[in-house]
Amino acid sequence: MLKRSKFLWVLLVGALFFSLLVGCSDTKTDEGSGSDSESDGGSSDEGSEDDSIDVGIILPTRDEPRWVQDEQRFRDAIADSDYTTEILFSQGSSANELQNVETLISRGIDVLIMSPHDGDAAGAAAKAASMEGIKVISYDRLITNTDAVDYYVTFDSFAVGEAQGQYLIDNTDGSGIPLYLYAGASSDNNAFLFFEGAWSVLQPKIADGTFVVANSSAAEELSSKNELTRDELGQILNQVTTNWDPNEAINKAQTHLTSAGAELKGDVAVLAPNDGTARSIADTFSSDSEVSSYIITGQDAEKASIQYIIDGKQSMTVFKDVRRLVEDAMGMAITILDGSDPETTGSYDNGAVDVPALQSEVITVDQANVEAELIESGYYEASEFTGLE
Ligand code: BGC
Repeated sequence: MLKRSKFLWVLLVGALFFSLLVGCSDTKTDEGSGSDSESDGGSSDEGSEDDSIDVGIILPTRDEPRWVQDEQRFRDAIADSDYTTEILFSQGSSANELQNVETLISRGIDVLIMSPHDGDAAGAAAKAASMEGIKVISYDRLITNTDAVDYYVTFDSFAVGEAQGQYLIDNTDGSGIPLYLYAGASSDNNAFLFFEGAWSVLQPKIADGTFVVANSSAAEELSSKNELTRDELGQILNQVTTNWDPNEAINKAQTHLTSAGAELKGDVAVLAPNDGTARSIADTFSSDSEVSSYIITGQDAEKASIQYIIDGKQSMTVFKDVRRLVEDAMGMAITILDGSDPETTGSYDNGAVDVPALQSEVITVDQANVEAELIESGYYEASEFTGLE
């Protein structure tokens, strides 16, 4: 008798241990790959046994304020939704991204909203989702060279670059102005679009001698050509990429300034691709005693860059209203979940197919309109900044 109850007890403890193990592995799955991730509530399913979700959202990295901002805007947008969502970060790794997609597939998603870390590499993840009948929406960055993308929600990225280039033209005087060019990561299709847009307006001003390219032999060689092929754009990007990494931007800027002669210093113009790299490059240029002034671009309206603009350390940013992008992406996802076809405004060739796209506009922001565009519009609170009048 005693023996038998001991056996039962061992069985019971064993079963308890097993159920704990299963519980642990569930939690682990929820954490996603390479990231802190959270399931988002605001859902009718919250707290129920069924932990399946409707919409999976994958963002490239939590290390850049731009994407943390997107996460927050998604959370705000879905707070009162009837649909369940989960946001995972890939932390700059395509392997994490694929694992995150597999996790979301296993959670039963019907729609995947994904901003890829690397546009080409994300094709495998998009395919895995598409093969399960999941609709794939490329978010902000295009997933390239695959037919497994159903829609693209984006800002007008060519216009972002155009606005940056035009700002440099409108805010410099004279001729022979040294122009330092920087770009994003060539694994990101947007980096090409931004640079292409900037080049479309800067090139005639390089060709007529208003600007002198200071840091790219490839750009100098192509300076008589207004429309560049992807390969030609790639040649310039290879020389001036920051890989979207502020530290790489500092290293590149230091190297360029070290090798530049006095004729490439003085009053200079700098095409910086986004706010994170702009702040690093601005700090590097401002600490060079031979640089008397610099005009520098950016994009994303990151809080730290808004402060830099107020303080006169960064000249401009291109404001991309993430509330709008999130609204478009979630609106599209809900239309799909409701069984209808979402509206689009055009299409983007991703190298394999024309992806139907919904695009929104961007706004140039500098000291003159920073309050109107970012504070009075309710995007940020005045109390988040110092030195506002
Ligand atoms: C986004 C930018 C961002 C950059 C670096 C681009 O694809 O459009 O807003 O600054 O990636 O993350």
